[in-house]
Amino acid sequence: MAKVNSKAVIVILFITVLLGLLYVCQYYRISLSFEETWKTEKEGSQTIRISHSSTDVHLESPPGLKYSQPSIVHGRTDVVTVTPWLAPVVWEGTFNELLLDSIYKKKNITVAATVFAVGKYIMFLKDFLETADKHFFAGFRVDFYVFTDRLNEVPKVNMAAGRTLTVRSVPSSNRWQEISARRMELIQKLIEETFQNHVDYIFCLDVDSKFHGRWGTESLGGLVAVIHPGYYRDNRSRFPYERRPASRAYVAPGEGDFYYCGGAFGGLVQEVHQLAKTCRNNFEDDAKEGIEAAWQEESHLNRYMWINKPSKVLSPEYLWQDFKQRNPEVLLIRFSGVIKNYANIRPN
Ligand SMILES: *[C@@H]1O[C@H](CO)[C@@H](O)[C@H](O)[C@H]1NC(C)=O
Ligand SMILES: *[C@@H]1O[C@H](CO)[C@@H](O)[C@H](O)[C@H]1NC(C)=O
Repeated sequence: MAKVNSKAVIVILFITVLLGLLYVCQYYRISLSFEETWKTEKEGSQTIRISHSSTDVHLESPPGLKYSQPSIVHGRTDVVTVTPWLAPVVWEGTFNELLLDSIYKKKNITVAATVFAVGKYIMFLKDFLETADKHFFAGFRVDFYVFTDRLNEVPKVNMAAGRTLTVRSVPSSNRWQEISARRMELIQKLIEETFQNHVDYIFCLDVDSKFHGRWGTESLGGLVAVIHPGYYRDNRSRFPYERRPASRAYVAPGEGDFYYCGGAFGGLVQEVHQLAKTCRNNFEDDAKEGIEAAWQEESHLNRYMWINKPSKVLSPEYLWQDFKQRNPEVLLIRFSGVIKNYANIRPN
């Protein structure tokens, strides 16, 4: 009996050890794969996507809010207010500010804005920030991120409550094309490193511009593009897309929707992250083959927006140019590029 018992004990021990080993291996594998997932999530956009996917849907208005009656038979007739893929085109007279603001107040959103003030472009920063404080998402939480190589020339600007300014240092460059090209990389990294859970929307704006009118919740969407003021009445064959098939920014003749601005774009954080990452990679792959797209990041952005249709399109009210006379369909200029002498401000 004793012999049988000790044999049984050995067998049981053996099985226990075997199970234990299996368990440890399994656990190890699980923890390894968990770590891998975590790593890719941290490097990619996974984490961001999960935490903000619901921000852009479910529009809940506060009960009892009084506003003017909407109509589907009366409205703007001088402009097109929807794209062929049914994204709204935002023009003055197509939205109700009070209603939209009430909806987004309930969501308690945070908007980030990036602006690059490299080299002499720092001279535009004060006006940009002061007018942004007044017109850009007034009454909402806005975090401004200024990228500059002239840290001690950043102006002191008093901002309204709930609005912050963060300054990030970037290296100087001898070519404005390079400064423009690196923007996408810096936007990508900013989102990955600092936005993880507290920013819902981001807009990337040109510093050499000023706000003149409201730019607010009507501009919010998944992926948001602004129509360039210089080409919106033209045939697309005249758009300054990159036309060399060797470039990753290539758009063939007879293709493309609109010509969008490189000077203003935005949307949900995860959407803009995807855009910045793609444009950066395409730009860098082009550079390895000695190609620089006609309008650098603007060319890559136009290619991206042609493939990945914006879910909201902002009319040229959202980026006009001071030197251009206002066209009659532009009832209100909200944001506009200032007149400047390129020879004086660009390093090359
Ligand atoms: C709104 O968001 C801010 C910042 O994320 C947070 O501190 C605050 O508690 C939120 N308020 C509500 C009512 O959820
Ligand atoms: C744009 O130009 C092309 C080529 O000249 C022409 O075939 C096309 O019909 C034009 N499109 C519009 C909308 O006028």
